[in-house]
Amino acid sequence: MKTAKQLVAEMTLEEKCSMLSGSDFWHTQPIERLGLPAVMVSDGPHGLRKQDDKADHLGVNDSIKAVCFPAACATAASFDRDMLRRIGEAIGDQCQHERVAVNLGPAINIKRSPLCGRNFEYLSEDPYLAGELAVAIVQGTQSKNVGTSVKHFAANNQEHRRMSSDSVIDERTLREIYLPAFEAAAKRGKAWTFMCSYNKLNGEFASEHRWLLTDLLRGEWGFDGYVMSDWGAVSDRVKGVHAGLDLEMPSSNGERDKVVLRAVQEGRLSEADVDLAVERIVDVSLRYLNNAKPETPWDMEADHELAGKLAAECMVLLKNEGGVLPLKSGERVAVIGEFAKKPRYQGGGSSHINSFKVTSLMDALSGVEGVTYAQGYHAEDDVTDDALLCEAVAAAKAADKAVIVAGLPDSFESEGYDRTHMRMPASQIALIEAVAAANPNTVVLLYNGSPVEMPWIDCVKGVVEGYLGGQNVGTASRAVLWGEVSPCGRLPETIPLRLEDTPCYLTYGGEGNTAVYSEGVFVGYRWYTSKKQPVRFPFGYGLSYTSFAYSNLRVSADAIADSETVTVSVDVTNTGDMAGKEVVQLYVAPPKADVIRPIRELKGFEKVELAPGETKTVSFVLDKRSFAYWNTQIHDWHVVTGDYAIQIAKNADEVALEIPVHVTGAELPRDYDVDTIYMDLTPKAKAAMASMMGAAIGGLGSPNKDDGAQESSAASEAITEDMGDAMMRYMPLRGMMSFGGMTIEKLEALVEAIRNA
Ligand code: BGC
Repeated sequence: MKTAKQLVAEMTLEEKCSMLSGSDFWHTQPIERLGLPAVMVSDGPHGLRKQDDKADHLGVNDSIKAVCFPAACATAASFDRDMLRRIGEAIGDQCQHERVAVNLGPAINIKRSPLCGRNFEYLSEDPYLAGELAVAIVQGTQSKNVGTSVKHFAANNQEHRRMSSDSVIDERTLREIYLPAFEAAAKRGKAWTFMCSYNKLNGEFASEHRWLLTDLLRGEWGFDGYVMSDWGAVSDRVKGVHAGLDLEMPSSNGERDKVVLRAVQEGRLSEADVDLAVERIVDVSLRYLNNAKPETPWDMEADHELAGKLAAECMVLLKNEGGVLPLKSGERVAVIGEFAKKPRYQGGGSSHINSFKVTSLMDALSGVEGVTYAQGYHAEDDVTDDALLCEAVAAAKAADKAVIVAGLPDSFESEGYDRTHMRMPASQIALIEAVAAANPNTVVLLYNGSPVEMPWIDCVKGVVEGYLGGQNVGTASRAVLWGEVSPCGRLPETIPLRLEDTPCYLTYGGEGNTAVYSEGVFVGYRWYTSKKQPVRFPFGYGLSYTSFAYSNLRVSADAIADSETVTVSVDVTNTGDMAGKEVVQLYVAPPKADVIRPIRELKGFEKVELAPGETKTVSFVLDKRSFAYWNTQIHDWHVVTGDYAIQIAKNADEVALEIPVHVTGAELPRDYDVDTIYMDLTPKAKAAMASMMGAAIGGLGSPNKDDGAQESSAASEAITEDMGDAMMRYMPLRGMMSFGGMTIEKLEALVEAIRNA
């Protein structure tokens, strides 16, 4: 096969323009004359949604039978890169089998608010976790010579007005929170394609954003694939081609291709821009076409088993009072709730998989003695059915323990719209309270895509967050509840006490088409921990049937320059009597400085499996990015010089061990003028000032005290010494003229001397 460049060189301008949009809903445009076939792209992200005909992008029409893996809300809770890689590999094989060139995922937008209808499809509120897991999925799928499409680029954090909303985000917040996962997927994942989002970013549609799609993605991050539009995200196609949006999806039925053609003919768009876009599309298609393996087997039963095994690794044990869990064989257990028979295991919209089979908890329990079932509620109903409630209470009374399978029905959360509250259906809350009153050993297992308020939590002994666990969620639920495995999921997001506590409660959704991200970098746990705001369960939280202890935290160096790395090691021991997995979390807490920062941020995690009594050493390598914040003066990452605390924590709220490391960062370039205030002078500048001023410096105090502590000879009697000191610190250099009798010439000479110091 010829190279992309050769093929494009042989195309007419009309053929090239025709390639800039799909040939239909799911295919690229073929150029048969040149032997270039169409290739197919398909959703994503947690399985293969391949539609043969009657195409749509909202999951309305059926697609081929496939395997639904746990959704991203669940897989993120695994904190397990290997697991995400395995899911990616399985999807890659499925795509090969089904002749699909690109799987439309992963979806990695940050969970800014628990209200986002699409949170079930996204990974985390934390950019580091989201980035690490995104890289794993991308690499897994692409190891099978099938592309991924990292979406939705960028800052698509709400469904409300999703095709018109403008995400207004300051530079630092964008760099620290909303971009790093995409950066990782591009730089380390080497994703073949990106999908631009529907929304605008700071006034420009993502589909027309040259800085986003070209300067940043390609220029800074080295992305060498193509960018496709989200389905219907194109407004001005000509602007988009120039911006770096290569492929419009779905087909515009040739309409926009004509617009692009005319723009080139009239000299409004350069043909080189078109060539570049087409070359990228063809190049990525060839990566697949030259390695297509439709003979790859697809063993759906094996993938179903894998889905169940993995779902168990994602469940998060939130509460386990008195060791109510695990359930023991021989115990009489009342399983209550419609979800126990008809589980909610995936979200609605374009990611919706047509599962070839579903295993519910009751399916998984068939044949197990001592288990009874009561429906308890109608899944889609907010109103209590008294007959079902009474039946459930009777079942609970007759059992040793009750397990209520509850959560959110489909209509409560979906792609396409946001939630307006975090409540569960009232009928389920009433059921939990009634059953818990009837049986003190009640456990709640939740199936939901994003956090719910838990006003009932004190009435029950156990809570398991099962998220949306994929089509074999029943097997996984049984494994966790009955202790076939020890739960090892950790929350990839905070569960707040109430919606009102969330960082963007007052602004989420925005006004009209404008959504200002005014909470800045304080997203998720960065907000709650820094504010000491109580939460229901913190980010990173999760219990186990065994216990773990940390010891021997050490660093390879206690002082480094920011160009160097430091290795952090800690020993973790399984101190219980069951094998289990612990997620070792490393956070970095910055020194106190002028820059306003979260009190700690996740910079490393490792999941380790330990037999009872076993100890393993876990090591992390920290580099400049682990300590840096985004500096808007130099438009780059910068490290403040100082002592950083390296914290090994059970979760974002609970630090187990910590050790300091001194990191020296680069000095920021400074410029001084008459408006510079005294406290912002470097010690050298202060010394230069003192030597120039001699005794005249008087009230400005000792030149070497850069904290600004002053002698207040100039202070009036009404002003205490401390007040005078504080005021002098904030005095601009021009104050020497206003209050010190300095001439303008001398002031100018002073500024000059300070600049040269
Ligand atoms: C969604 C994408 C999806 C596409 C194709 C859009 O509505 O936002 O995530 O890949 O449809 O189904």
